Amino acid sequence: MTLHTVILAAGQGSRMRSALPKVLHPIAGSPMLSHVIDAAEVLAADAIHIVVGHGGEQVRQALESRQVHWVEQRQQLGTGHAVLQALPGVPDDATVLVLYGDVPLVQPDTLRSLLSAAARGPAILTVELEDPDGYGRILRSDKAEVLGIVEQKDANRAQLAIREINTGLLAAPARLLERWLRRCGNDNAQGEYYLTDVVALAVADGLPVESVMITDALEVSGVNNRAQLAQLERVWQYRTALRLMQEGVTLRDPARLDVRGHLHCAQDVTVDVNCVFEGEVSLAEGVTVGPGCVIRNSRIGAYAVIEANSVIDGAEIGARSNVGPFARLRPGTVLHDGAKVGNFVEIKKSEIGPGSKVNHLSYIGDATLGRDVNVGAGTITCNYDGTSKHHTVIEDGAFIGSDTQLVAPVTVGTGAVVGAGTTVTRDVEPGSLALSRTAQKAIPGWKQRRSS
Ligand code: UD1
Ligand code: CA
Repeated sequence: MTLHTVILAAGQGSRMRSALPKVLHPIAGSPMLSHVIDAAEVLAADAIHIVVGHGGEQVRQALESRQVHWVEQRQQLGTGHAVLQALPGVPDDATVLVLYGDVPLVQPDTLRSLLSAAARGPAILTVELEDPDGYGRILRSDKAEVLGIVEQKDANRAQLAIREINTGLLAAPARLLERWLRRCGNDNAQGEYYLTDVVALAVADGLPVESVMITDALEVSGVNNRAQLAQLERVWQYRTALRLMQEGVTLRDPARLDVRGHLHCAQDVTVDVNCVFEGEVSLAEGVTVGPGCVIRNSRIGAYAVIEANSVIDGAEIGARSNVGPFARLRPGTVLHDGAKVGNFVEIKKSEIGPGSKVNHLSYIGDATLGRDVNVGAGTITCNYDGTSKHHTVIEDGAFIGSDTQLVAPVTVGTGAVVGAGTTVTRDVEPGSLALSRTAQKAIPGWKQRRSS
């Protein structure tokens, strides 16, 4: 079967009250339209066509890396008109699957059922709702055959009482779809060309219309406003949480987890509440993440402990290392096994050797630390001279006293000691002591002298 997917995304989405086109509003950190494309890609469609209109250029730019065909619908004359714009790019013998760019949680399995139902003619996806308000209603015969779809605004009282609604998603043979769409008029309450009219036209042509009814209404929920966006975000996140728990992750509260990207976890990972994971993050076996951490594009080694409120971005963290609370690891940070980074420490583009410690209130940038280095509280690598960045090297076993400034480029040799309060401006020889503070003075009787 040749499969062409058409994703409708030309609507304005005015109820979002946003300069951003509706389909670019994110679910789990990516534009909702990209989730629909993901689902379509799982089906291995021969082509994916996206119909854009409002903010079309912006949508196209945001998703320019995706392998899709962009189709412009200049005026939003209705869903039927929108599909028709894409059909010139679809071969006659293809099956067309219509999706909505603002229905982001749809699952590939559901689409597969819809496609198998469309083997001979059109098939629609329906769901029963407690409150069907606003949706097109499914009209059926006494024998429960689908007869047509009537939009809310065109429905009579009896029709409004029907609780089976049209999700909007459908599949149909391209050749027939085009024929029916060309016959659709816009003589209805909204003056639009309704895609839903093809159902009655198919029935009139003597072709039975299949339907697939799903039970999970959330899967086919659309986003029209920010409250619905937030609701679907939570649904998405909860599904991610369930999957992680099935894979052997302990989540202190699955309702308080946000994954915006991909989180890969080995067994026995524990994640406390209110953590956010962005991009590609992997946590090896036994990693513990404390509450309130933000971790982006990073890899964390086995049995590492990330304590509360740490922010980690673009870092690689070795096994059994310890980070935080309140640590900030910026891109290019590499912590080797058993390293320790404590509170109020910022590290950027630096390598911290095995077993080395930077425990308190320090900035380490553009530096290479060997193994078992101890960096005292309040140490700063002065890596920037206003024009360029320079490198600091601290070799194995060196000890850096508190409140030290290391003015880069500079090297502290193996086993050297830098006394507290030193400003290091020249290389420190291995095994030596560097000290630059002025000697302490003592002036006896200072208080009496001042008051006399
Ligand atoms: C549509 C269905 C309705 C169904 C409901 C489910 C029709 C006539 N009605 O109604 O039966 O219950 O969806 O949510 O199809 N779009 C375009 N170009 C247009 C018009 C719409 O691309 O000219 C896109 C929108 O961006 C949106 C989708 O099509 O993604 C649906 O449009 P919308 O206006 O929300 O349709 P409804 O009136 O809700
Ligand atoms: Ca809608």
